[in-house]
Amino acid sequence: MRIDILTIFPEMLEAPLNHSIIKRAQEKGIVELHYHNIRDYSKNKHKKVDDYAYSLGAGMVMTIQPIADLIEKLKSERSYDAIIFTTPDGIPYKQADANRFSSFENIMILCGHYKGIDQRIRDHYITHEISIGDYVLTGGELAAAVISDSIIRLIPGAMSDETSALSDSFQDQLLSPPVYTRPAEYNGWKVPEILLSGNEKKIDEWKMEQALEKTKRIRPDLLED
Ligand code: 6GU
Repeated sequence: MRIDILTIFPEMLEAPLNHSIIKRAQEKGIVELHYHNIRDYSKNKHKKVDDYAYSLGAGMVMTIQPIADLIEKLKSERSYDAIIFTTPDGIPYKQADANRFSSFENIMILCGHYKGIDQRIRDHYITHEISIGDYVLTGGELAAAVISDSIIRLIPGAMSDETSALSDSFQDQLLSPPVYTRPAEYNGWKVPEILLSGNEKKIDEWKMEQALEKTKRIRPDLLED
């Protein structure tokens, strides 16, 4: 897989995507990440990438030219399975989207900024407009890092124990049950007896009960659909 990320702050993505599983996936050649600075494509003499909105008080808007030139260049080099735009007014991102994207070959992610980008970029290039939650971030960079991380860890070979992705919270619309490790008692705080019993069937039933109870308590919406 190849992911191209288009941003005015490439440094905001390099750090979060250069650790742990995501770093190793790149070293193993499972994924290539390419960061492109939109500013480098500006034909403006001051390398400007934004301008005033055609609407009083709407603030600054990212201009078409540098973004369009960069997208056209990338599209001329390979075909893309998805051109994602990160924006708080996008469709809420879900684990099912990560699962689907993880089978793609080439993905482009355009990071939003300021008050937005010229709508014509969205109309003519973007295939998926994605929000990562109901709150506002300074820019789309952290969202692009979140989306990339969630996709890359699912690519076969990225995780050493591939079955572990299947037991993630949300993979079956349930939150994960609590987990424990040694010691069996710390400060008088005990690991639930059932986990020390060695009875795999009983342990699986307990985990399912715990997952259901936790989901009902804090995310009842997950059980509705
Ligand atoms: Cl994708 N971008 C920004 N700027 N804010 C967000 C977001 C994205 N998702 C939630 N909030």
